[in-house]
Amino acid sequence: MPRSLKKVRLLSSREIQKRVGELARSISRDYQGRELVLVGVLNGAFIFLADLVKRMTIPVQVDFVRLSSYGSGSESRGRITVSKPAELPLAGKSVLIVEDIIDTGLTLDFLSRSLQEQHPESIRICALVDKSERRKLPVSLDYTGFVVPSGFIVGYGLDFDEQFRQLPAIYRLEETLDPGAIRADSMPPM
Ligand code: IMP
Ligand code: MG
Repeated sequence: MPRSLKKVRLLSSREIQKRVGELARSISRDYQGRELVLVGVLNGAFIFLADLVKRMTIPVQVDFVRLSSYGSGSESRGRITVSKPAELPLAGKSVLIVEDIIDTGLTLDFLSRSLQEQHPESIRICALVDKSERRKLPVSLDYTGFVVPSGFIVGYGLDFDEQFRQLPAIYRLEETLDPGAIRADSMPPM
């Protein structure tokens, strides 16, 4: 029987906006007087970064990177490459990586090491969601929006098969027998 998925709301738009406001305040306070560059990870972080930067009260520059990972299966693999590098000069700058979700930690570990080659003054990490259960590499997050132990989530930039990024809230995808639900022949990692 084909597997189907339903969306169960986990975080409302209101909860997300409140938390993003708190993060923007902390970041603005911590980086006062420093040359801050936010480096967003495409595509997942685009909405989070946009909301975050609108609420910051200090000068800030914005850049994006895009990464690809290769191999089989649906979880991120060790072989990661940069398909769009950061374009602003980062030497001597305070870099804050903005990610949608940290799962195994492989992507972030690769990205931090790759940005380090440009000798920024510091590199810190801000993630909307810390999904800790499948962590393979230790990652220390400086700013965390929400901790979600497990499951596959979508909305607010996060996708399943490039769908659902536009939703203003965050949903958990759960298996269901309802034939009218989203068809999923390959389930995302749970
Ligand atoms: P990591 O390298 O395993 O930490 O993978 C992180 C990336 O996998 C994130 O930036 C997302 O693009 C994707 N990802 C991991 N978990 C989820 C999820 O629950 N929903 C949507 N994307 C996810
Ligand atoms: Mg991502």
